[in-house]
Amino acid sequence: IGGWRGLIEEYRQFLPVSSKTPVITLLEGNTPLIPAPYLSAQIGRDVKVFVKYDGLNPTGSFKDRGMTMAISKAKEEGAKAVICASTGNTSAAAAAYARRAGMRAFVIIPDGYVALGKLAQALLYGAEVIAINGNFDDALKIVRQLSENYPVTLVNSVNPYRLEGQKTAAFEIVDVLGNAPDWLCIPVGNAGNISAYWMGFCQYHQIGKCDRLPKMMGFQASGAAPFISKQPVDHPETLATAIRIGNPANWEKAWAASHASQGQFHAVSDEEILAAYRILGGQEGVFCEPASAASVAGLLKVHQQVPDGATVVCVLTGNGLKDPDSAVKHSNNQLKSGIAPELTQVAQIMGF
Ligand code: F0G
Repeated sequence: IGGWRGLIEEYRQFLPVSSKTPVITLLEGNTPLIPAPYLSAQIGRDVKVFVKYDGLNPTGSFKDRGMTMAISKAKEEGAKAVICASTGNTSAAAAAYARRAGMRAFVIIPDGYVALGKLAQALLYGAEVIAINGNFDDALKIVRQLSENYPVTLVNSVNPYRLEGQKTAAFEIVDVLGNAPDWLCIPVGNAGNISAYWMGFCQYHQIGKCDRLPKMMGFQASGAAPFISKQPVDHPETLATAIRIGNPANWEKAWAASHASQGQFHAVSDEEILAAYRILGGQEGVFCEPASAASVAGLLKVHQQVPDGATVVCVLTGNGLKDPDSAVKHSNNQLKSGIAPELTQVAQIMGF
């Protein structure tokens, strides 16, 4: 059969796989790069804004890119079980791919700080979900120790295969634009994804697929912004629970990417994140989760620095359906309910 074969087959030559690697795939990748005309007009000066809508992956986030690689390699190495700490999306992706590979999936999550859709996924996919009275950083510490002492493979982004898979998003952007963008705006939590994108752009640049490299613009929630304070945050807080992380594991790699690309890190407030979230939904017709909107919030915050005529890609890491509670609570829109089932009543409410 034809069609997209999943990112391992499509980008096999750039990935550490061999004919012996069992490919565990849900045909992830190939997500749309959607023009954002409202945002482009807001910035003006012929700046062209696109969103890389990675929420359209099989489990609804960019984590599927990393997980197809991490789980395929774990399977190749004979693993029977995998484990991760997660704010929700990693757990959903790990669960789906591990179960598909016939492995146990253990996920450790911060109790009360995982969006409902993500929890629902992990449970339905058949993960063994353990909620701790602690945050993501506490959970990561525990799973690192567990994977060192027991026969379980760690599939957080400290697993190098995760970043190998995630770098393919950069390939896809270049394949569509015909070059790298001038700016890449991306939310930063554990800092794996910004590191992976940079790897991808550099690899494509080396083989001549693009003749420039983007400025890597990383955005964190202001209550969870260790790259801005330049030290770990003990008690990270933000309504963007996906990036509620105080001690990022990929600290060195992300700084290296930022320096090498002459990029910047900035913090965006929860209010700025929500404003971008509403613009994406209500003006562009693109529903992402709050953490993803940090990339657009950041762009709007520093838009005066964007060069005239530049091409900007904002990464939308997760689907809005992951977190319906946030949408209902923060949409600034209300259900009109309790209406009599009569034409005149409904027409009147419609303003006719
Ligand atoms: N956006 C979303 C929707 C995420 O779920 C995450 C991370 C990020 C951005 C940040 O990416 O960690 O590579 O800098 N989520 C992880 C998880 C921590 O457990 O799902 P990062």
